Amino acid sequence: MFNLAIFYGLIGLGSLCLGIFAYDQLYGSPLKHPEEGLGVGRSWKDAGEIGETDDSLATLSEIQQVIDLQRRIIHDQMIDYQYPNGRYNISANKLEDLVIERNGNPIRSVVVSTWRSGSTFFGDIFTASPGVFYHFEPLVDFGINKIRGPPLASQALKNLKALFSCDYSSLDRYLERVKNRTYIFRANPPLWAQCQAHPSICYNHKFLSEMCKLFPFQLMKILRPTLHIAQELLADEKLGVRLVFLTRDPRGVFQSRKHRSFCQEGLDCSDPSLLCKDMVSDYNTAVELQKKYPSTFRVLRYEDLSLEPHKEVKKLIEFYGLDFHPNIKKYIDTHTKYDFGDPYTTFRDSKIAPFHWRTELEFEEVEEIQRNCFVPMKHWGYVPALNISHQREFNPVTNYMPHL
Ligand SMILES: *[C@@H]1O[C@H](CO)[C@@H](O)[C@H](O)[C@H]1NC(C)=O
Ligand SMILES: *[C@@H]1O[C@H](CO)[C@@H](O)[C@H](O)[C@H]1NC(C)=O
Ligand SMILES: *[C@@H]1O[C@H](CO)[C@@H](O)[C@H](O)[C@H]1NC(C)=O
Repeated sequence: MFNLAIFYGLIGLGSLCLGIFAYDQLYGSPLKHPEEGLGVGRSWKDAGEIGETDDSLATLSEIQQVIDLQRRIIHDQMIDYQYPNGRYNISANKLEDLVIERNGNPIRSVVVSTWRSGSTFFGDIFTASPGVFYHFEPLVDFGINKIRGPPLASQALKNLKALFSCDYSSLDRYLERVKNRTYIFRANPPLWAQCQAHPSICYNHKFLSEMCKLFPFQLMKILRPTLHIAQELLADEKLGVRLVFLTRDPRGVFQSRKHRSFCQEGLDCSDPSLLCKDMVSDYNTAVELQKKYPSTFRVLRYEDLSLEPHKEVKKLIEFYGLDFHPNIKKYIDTHTKYDFGDPYTTFRDSKIAPFHWRTELEFEEVEEIQRNCFVPMKHWGYVPALNISHQREFNPVTNYMPHL
């Protein structure tokens, strides 16, 4: 009898895991969302209106049902999770310590970057872990604009803090935009799974707030504010944010942006001199922040992450105070096609994403970017190409970033 019960219990647990795995496979694949702007076209005929006051009993009861189901899913997924329990300066040792619904304080992980700098790859690595609620491009309603100061900065920060508190009540403009760009919620696999099954509540404030409050890990990828603006999040001790600034070789950024029509919508995305200016400002801020917040701020270059993903992700996981969950390892193994373990593999032999620009760009284009970006390239450790044959061959990344 007893053994039989265990047997059926295991079968039940197994099917739950399979179900979750199926969700991951269906909705969690990283290549389904472009970095920005290309997700228009799918309409949500039967989706709830933004800002509607549909508090009908039917709606409330549907929300309640979904929330109860999601709570159980998270609970089951987190059973074997290794909580920090004092490691990494985080005392949490059980789920409710990290869940807003239970008056806990989630682990809040931020990546600040700019368009086409590897942040999609970065974010997807972490959403492979259970318990992650991913605020993907929370400032999409600010358009293709960098946020460098007033008047946009204060509204942007207000929205980011509202999301980090799972308060969607004042985010109608954001939700309006998201509704039109399904890749934004699709980047958040557990949310998207529920939206697929329950489209009529997907954009309901109450649903989103309650859903968000169930998750122990709140991950956010921010593209528009400069680091100088985004650092405000680090100053908020109650949030306890840990923030990574992700940067990339400007030649790689522009090669990648060239093929994105959304980028032509704004000078902030299409003009090299503006990117280069921001890279200088970001560098100066980063030097300051490393002194001011040595344990909650760090920088990362996309090239380093791509060349040694296992090593870099392990460092990031520890920095954020997370557990190196087997799903994360699996994600890296299946999404980085070449063998980093082989000491004879040099990137000169591998066609790898961050370095495509060496073959795709004309030397004249490279020269123009280098002219604009001479100073930030030096700061961030990127080597100028001297001529076309040099460009095709050389290692553009040094392992030296002065002062960082
Ligand atoms: C969706 O986007 C298109 C083009 O960007 C816009 O014309 C349309 O009004 C938007 N629809 C909604 C519901 O926001
Ligand atoms: C832990 O937190 C304290 C105070 O915020 C800080 O000084 C220390 O460097 C942190 N240690 C680690 C390992 O993050
Ligand atoms: C390109 O630059 C390299 C390094 O300075 C030099 O050795 C090589 O001769 C140059 N090639 C051409 C075609 O100018």
